[in-house]
Amino acid sequence: MTGPTSDRPLLGSRALVTGGAGALGSVIVDRLVGAGADVVVVDLDGERAATLAASFADSGRVVESVAVDLTDFDAVQEALGAVQTERGIDILVNAAGGGAVAPFAEMDAATWRTQMARNLDSVFHVTRAVLPGMLERGHGRILNIASIAAISGGRLVRNATAYATAKAGVVGLTKSLAIEVADRGVTVNAIAPGAQATPGRDRDTPEQRAALLDQIPTRLLGDPAHLADAILFLVSPAARNVTGVILPLDGGHSI
Ligand SMILES: NC(=O)c1ccc[n+]([C@@H]2O[C@H](COP(=O)([O-])OP(=O)(O)OC[C@H]3O[C@@H](n4cnc5c(N)ncnc54)[C@H](O)[C@@H]3O)[C@@H](O)[C@H]2O)c1
Repeated sequence: MTGPTSDRPLLGSRALVTGGAGALGSVIVDRLVGAGADVVVVDLDGERAATLAASFADSGRVVESVAVDLTDFDAVQEALGAVQTERGIDILVNAAGGGAVAPFAEMDAATWRTQMARNLDSVFHVTRAVLPGMLERGHGRILNIASIAAISGGRLVRNATAYATAKAGVVGLTKSLAIEVADRGVTVNAIAPGAQATPGRDRDTPEQRAALLDQIPTRLLGDPAHLADAILFLVSPAARNVTGVILPLDGGHSI
C-alpha cells in the first residue's frame, strides 16, 4: 500500500467520520479524501451519506457509507464491528451532534437526555467501537467536535445549557482519554467551533446576524473549509505529539 506523501499526508489511511453527511461532516470528508484517505461516512441519514459517498466514485479512494443511530450502543458496536472486519480505522472524527434550544427552567427530561445521547453518548459509543483496534495496532487519531458552548457556556446561543453540558463532557472525555492512551500511539484532540457559516445560519435575520457578529472579535463566522484544514493537521502524521488539545475556532470569542 502507498504511504503518505507531502501533498497527500493521509495516503494509506482509513478514516471514519460520524455525522459525515452533515454540513461540517461533508466538508471534513471531502478534505480527508483529498488528502488521500479512504473514508467511511457514518450518519443517521443513510440516504445522504450514500449520496455523498457515491460522489467520490472517481476520486481513486474507497468511500463507503454506513447508516446507524449513534445513540444506540449495541447498534453502533455491531455496525462498526462489521466495518472493521477486514481493515481497521486509523482516523476517527466524531462530528455527529447538534443542539436544541430550551430554557433550563422549562426543560423536560426527554430534551436533556436527547442532547446527552446525541452529543456525548454517541462519542462514547463510536470511540468504544474503534479504539480497541487502534490500540492493537499502536496507532490512531481521534478528533472530537465539541463546541465553543462547552467553554463559554453557550453565550453565542442562549438557552443551550443541555447542549453546552454535553459538549463540556466531550471536552472532558477528550482530555482524559488523551492521557489514558498517550503512550499507546493514539492521540485524542478536539475542535471547539464557534458559529460556522453553515446553511443553518442562512435563517438568521439581519438583526440576529449583527447581534451574533457583535460577540465575535474578528466579526467573522467560521469557514467550514478552515475547520477541515485544522482537523487535517490534527489527524496528520505531523501532529503525532499533539494530544489532549481543545482548539477553539471561534474568531476570538472565547478569549
Ligand atoms: N455548525 C456550527 O456552527 C457548529 C458550531 C459548533 C459546533 N458544531 C458541532 O459540529 C458538529 C456538526 O455540526 P453541523 O453544523 O455539521 O450539523 P448538521 O446537523 O449539518 O450535521 C450533523 C450530522 O449528524 C447526524 N446525526 C445527528 N444525530 C445522529 C445520530 N443519533 N446518529 C447518527 N448521526 C446523527 C445528522 O444526521 C447530520 O448529518 C456537531 O457536533 C455540532 O454540534 C457545529
